Amino acid sequence: MIRSWHLGDDRQSLVLASFDDRLPEAVYWGPALPTGENLETLSAAALADVTGGMVDRNAGLSLCPEASESFPGQTGLTARNASGAPLMPSFRFESEAASEHGLTLVFADNSLDLSLVFDLVLTPETSLLKLQTRLESVDEITVDWLAAPVLPVPAYTGEMIEFSGRWCAEFLTRRLPFAPGSRVRDNRTGRTDHAHFPGLVVCNAGTSNTAGEAFAFHYGWSGGHKMVAEELADGRRQVQFGHATASLASGRHFVSAPLYATYSATGFNGAAVRFQRHVRDHVVQGARTPRPVHYNCWEAVYFKHDLDELKAIASQAADLGAERFVLDDGWFGRRDDDTSSLGDWVIDKRKYPDGLTPLIDHIKALGMEFGIWFEPEMVNEDSDLCRAHPDWVLGHADQIRGRQQLVLDMSNQEVRDYLYAHIADVLKNNDIGYIKWDHNRILPVVDAEQAEGFYELVDRLRSDFPAVEIESCSSGGGRIDFGVLERTHRVWLSDSNDALERQRIQHDAALFLPASVTGSHVGPRHCHTSGRTLDIRLRAWTAAQRHMGFEMDPRELSEAEAETLRNVTSWWKANRDWMMQADILRLDSADPAVIAEQQLAGDGSRFVAFAALTRPSDQILPRPLRLTGLDPQGRYRLSLVNRDDAPRLSRGAPLLKHQDLEASGQYLMSHGLTLPWRFPETVWVVEGERL
Ligand code: GLA
Repeated sequence: MIRSWHLGDDRQSLVLASFDDRLPEAVYWGPALPTGENLETLSAAALADVTGGMVDRNAGLSLCPEASESFPGQTGLTARNASGAPLMPSFRFESEAASEHGLTLVFADNSLDLSLVFDLVLTPETSLLKLQTRLESVDEITVDWLAAPVLPVPAYTGEMIEFSGRWCAEFLTRRLPFAPGSRVRDNRTGRTDHAHFPGLVVCNAGTSNTAGEAFAFHYGWSGGHKMVAEELADGRRQVQFGHATASLASGRHFVSAPLYATYSATGFNGAAVRFQRHVRDHVVQGARTPRPVHYNCWEAVYFKHDLDELKAIASQAADLGAERFVLDDGWFGRRDDDTSSLGDWVIDKRKYPDGLTPLIDHIKALGMEFGIWFEPEMVNEDSDLCRAHPDWVLGHADQIRGRQQLVLDMSNQEVRDYLYAHIADVLKNNDIGYIKWDHNRILPVVDAEQAEGFYELVDRLRSDFPAVEIESCSSGGGRIDFGVLERTHRVWLSDSNDALERQRIQHDAALFLPASVTGSHVGPRHCHTSGRTLDIRLRAWTAAQRHMGFEMDPRELSEAEAETLRNVTSWWKANRDWMMQADILRLDSADPAVIAEQQLAGDGSRFVAFAALTRPSDQILPRPLRLTGLDPQGRYRLSLVNRDDAPRLSRGAPLLKHQDLEASGQYLMSHGLTLPWRFPETVWVVEGERL
């Protein structure tokens, strides 16, 4: 007997089938099937043959492949009973229920008193699948691994793009072939981490940003994930995501984080746009619009807080166009460097004898909002908190410190209450619109309760202070995922304010993140994390590609630099309403030295393309840059916004250098833009409008 289900829209179809009441398998995932397709026939047609040298029935590559089926690969569940014996459930269909945009399927093993529930949703506006597995047990059990609903990827895919990285180089992508065996990522840092963004894109050798097929995944969880991309010995391929190994404990109820997934027939961009829109419109709640221009004082003053100096900096930042001033680390306890005071969330009277009010009043008078830095989950041993509650620290006493700090045990209600009370006190007594929420070290143990405790604390603060926006920072991009974005409004993508590095990081992060949540700041002339010296135009335009801000000491700017920054900031302000709602389309540059993207308005009426030359090109002539996502029949007017930046060595007369270009979408997408010659470490900015 076959039961079948369809989750789909006009962009993709996912067909699930349960054979003889066993766990459901995705028997089809790909382009949308025509209405009226007989699902039962498809399901039966998908059954593979059996031959010599194998068992008599292929074990189902189900939403939770079972050990009891002798599944020849990673199973979806690994659990033990109270006495430590492995549990090998064999689930059978119990019930189904339709939800608003999806379904809930319930399976049970009555002999073990276990039930397995799959919550499956396809968000219609974004065509993104949101899939979750729940396990319920009558008796207490221990679960070592529970995968979110497991999906096969079709035989015609052969490659995967996965993510690694490090501090100041987040979202590094790596394209690997599928081969027999598994590619396993087990992030045991206890946080999402710079090195382990929980994403995967499965594709073909020919898939590019703008063409080809892709199956993309993201696990929305902040506590560290495990991913298995496996080619079974029989040739089938599966993708599993769940919490990092050993992060689940004993209990009766277990639930995976949501796995977001989508199929794209239009290259990586097809998937990226769905993730971007989903984050912007469905995950993030209540972000302020228009997105205000930030000023963050970290790289200007570090721990040296002087009221008059900060006021002078704030005045200059406002003059440059900033609308939100974020007071970074150093305002609390006796925090003169990073060796003390985390946990003592009380304003430092040495630096602020009259509290923060004089600074906040000055900032408000300049028309800016005031934001403030916290690192709630952390504690220094040199703090009143640690002296009073050494037992609140997570992990062993002799653990290695990270940035001289320890982690508070967020599963402890007393810890959360303490943090809530102190943060709430600062928020109640000061006019604060924004928190930069930091998390500067990995955990000493892998522990899902830590992330759950963090979620609970943020949720409580969000519900009591709904007007306060929160930024997720973790030494830059160490905690970026849809779990944290459900509770925050912006991510600090990287501690690197090096615009060249930022170009690459922003480009790869756009596979999942929209501009509206991606913080990008104009850093100091001499970059503090790379040692490079970069021109203000490159720095300003790079920040203007995302949620813009400044982080240098504005007193270092020459008048010419300040003028450039003012101009680019006004350009950003004039365009942010549509740009923060636009799709970021990564362009396939024919020159590997160029990182390029096109931000396209939802209605296709306008766009802006940014093309950064990150190093000298191998060839002498700039290669035409092909655009994407335009109507081939439509006509467009294009203008090179910063044509005045063309250097003297650009001696010829390419049309865009002197005048606007009117051309069809077909020409722009097929031939592409012929841009003027320029020096490396520059960005061309091209605006386009549909006529
Ligand atoms: C982390 C953040 C920085 C800054 C410092 C303050 O490194 O990523 O932006 O806030 O902490 O200590």
